[in-house]
Amino acid sequence: MLVCLPGILAPDHAEALRIRLQATGWGDGKVTAGFQSGRVKHNLQIGPDCAEGRALGDIVMQALESAPAFISAALPRQVFPPLFNRYDPGMGFGTHVDNAVRAVPHTGQRLRTDLSATLFLSPPESYDGGELVIEDTYGTHSIKLPAGDMVLYPSRSLHRVEPVTRGTRIAAFLWIQSMVKSRDHREMLYDLDRAVQDLGTTLSANAPALVRLTGLYHNLLREWGEL
Ligand code: NI
Repeated sequence: MLVCLPGILAPDHAEALRIRLQATGWGDGKVTAGFQSGRVKHNLQIGPDCAEGRALGDIVMQALESAPAFISAALPRQVFPPLFNRYDPGMGFGTHVDNAVRAVPHTGQRLRTDLSATLFLSPPESYDGGELVIEDTYGTHSIKLPAGDMVLYPSRSLHRVEPVTRGTRIAAFLWIQSMVKSRDHREMLYDLDRAVQDLGTTLSANAPALVRLTGLYHNLLREWGEL
């Protein structure tokens, strides 16, 4: 399942972040890549050793923590501190699958990458190319979102970033270990949660069916979740 989450950052916040990023030191993106992905990765990155990058990553983290749609879709147990990448003309990232396990910088804690996320920071009209292309069981999806919007997709998916041919594409990216390891279980919980939220707009909060469905959601999460 691929979920687009609009407005994780307001457009003016996304722009402010992008302006600060542009003034920050960028390094070779290969430093966080695995063996295969390193050979097809051609981009620039702000890594975890950059204080400004960490401060900007914290802003993204705070935005995610207050985004109910993100919580509902990801059911995060642990979020890898966001990193930032940049593609100038001629840069791209060939087809790969993200590494299954990541060490969280500075803590040494390890995280299983259940979900990958890209938060777009450049307005789509400011660059050509740079689509995030994701292959899942339902086909191939080409994603290019407004600045401030995020796409969430299973880390097991093959994906690539098409070469940029004009302008600059800047984005934040991160991985999530979910409380619910099974993709099927996570997707069913997301469906159920959205249905319960929809019903909540028309039914009173103590309508018996709504109470039972809400209870069912939490009981399934108790059954399938791990802390
Ligand atoms: Ni990737």
